[in-house]
Amino acid sequence: MANIILQCFYFMLPVYFANMAPVIAKKINFLKFPIDFGREIKNKPILGKNKTFRGLFFGVIFAIIISYIQYYLYKNGILFDLAMIDYSSWLLLGFLMGFGAIFGDLVKSFFKRRLGYEPGKPFVPWDQTDFVIGALIFLFPIVKLPIDKIMIIIILSFILHIIVNHLAFYTGVRKEKW
Ligand code: CTP
Ligand code: MG
Repeated sequence: MANIILQCFYFMLPVYFANMAPVIAKKINFLKFPIDFGREIKNKPILGKNKTFRGLFFGVIFAIIISYIQYYLYKNGILFDLAMIDYSSWLLLGFLMGFGAIFGDLVKSFFKRRLGYEPGKPFVPWDQTDFVIGALIFLFPIVKLPIDKIMIIIILSFILHIIVNHLAFYTGVRKEKW
């Protein structure tokens, strides 16, 4: 069981880095404009000012870099037992994981705005799972995981997200605890 959890964690690393990328890249003044171009539906932002092209760009880049590193390790037999998949298609894998993660986050923000939550306000459990669901859906055409692993991934990611966000909050990396 411990081994399966570790495999799930290793599998999800590109997704986790994609999800952290927008926060890490916050200080960079590149593509720093909102994906909804500041537009509104019924006086509410479509996605909100916090969802930028910068976040999308770095999310995809981070996931591709981690996926490449995993391919490199896999090819050289390093951490081979942790790998659940063949990493030969690292570019496609990384792209789908990164784009899927950020897309999931955008879909969440779309519904969050419709329900009237301000950007940055907690929206449990969707803040913790949007990127995971998005990435798994985008990956589905090339990686079909059994349902038990999907459940482990969702629960594990939910717990890790809360721990990492709280750490980021207390170290000043993030402005919100959730
Ligand atoms: N971010 C970004 N581009 C994205 C996603 C996030 O630039 N596509 C940055 C923003 O600076 C944002 C921070 O990362 O404030 C944290 O992201 P997140 O928690 O996902 O967004 P929230 O601010 O909570 O907004 P929402 O309420 O829409 O989830
Ligand atoms: Mg948030």
